[in-house]
Amino acid sequence: MEIIIADTYEEMSELAADMIERQLLRKPSSVLGLATGSTPVGTYKVLVRKHKEEGLDFSKVITFNLDEYLDLSPSHSQSYRYFMDHNLFNHINVDPKNIHVPYGHASEVEEFCEWYEEEIKRAGGIDLQILGIGADGHIAFNEPGSSLGSRTRLKTLTQQTIEDNARFFDNPEEVPRFAITMGVGTILEAKQIILLANGAKKADIVAQALEGPITAQVSASALQMHRQVTVILDAEAGSKLKRADYYRWVFQEKKRLVPRLVGKVT
Ligand code: PGA
Repeated sequence: MEIIIADTYEEMSELAADMIERQLLRKPSSVLGLATGSTPVGTYKVLVRKHKEEGLDFSKVITFNLDEYLDLSPSHSQSYRYFMDHNLFNHINVDPKNIHVPYGHASEVEEFCEWYEEEIKRAGGIDLQILGIGADGHIAFNEPGSSLGSRTRLKTLTQQTIEDNARFFDNPEEVPRFAITMGVGTILEAKQIILLANGAKKADIVAQALEGPITAQVSASALQMHRQVTVILDAEAGSKLKRADYYRWVFQEKKRLVPRLVGKVT
């Protein structure tokens, strides 16, 4: 794993967007795995800026989102499809045909989940997957106890996640209890992964996921088994890491001596 502790949320977002940009320059038809939540909003803003000001081209990009609430229509203001349209897709030149967000209104959820997995395979697999982490250690909606081999499926959200999400809904009763989510196994098949986390509220779970044991109780800990993960944190989210000084030293040495190694597990 490469662990980068940035000073600020803005720096974290710039570093993540730079890695995505490098991926698109290397392979314009990249398959991107995308995340929702407040964490990647800054990264998406930088990507929009790079598109508008520097011509970063998304015309051949294919996207797959991690998850979507069950039974929220794509036009619902709290659906993840709506989030993605407003924070990214409406502001870049991605071809709408190439966008995939799990369909929360699918009538046959199991068939839909199988189809979603097949679509990822047909696209050639995910080149670069962006992830956030929930306060309970989830990646996508793989709540504690999710099999580390799990695939796209329906999951019940934990009470903690429901409470965390309540801030976006007028009435706590409206917060969805179920979601369609890529599995941990699906995520681990991405060729490269960027995990983002910011804020003091994430410090404990980040330390558990990165420096604790690999366990289905902390889904993000499964990333320790992946060969090409870059974790980008702000200073607060990285504040409980035992080896923080070492990670900082590695980052500084890479920047100073071989900048092209930033964003690579070395
Ligand atoms: P957040 O959510 O980015 O809003 O903190 C992260 C997650 O639940 O995966």
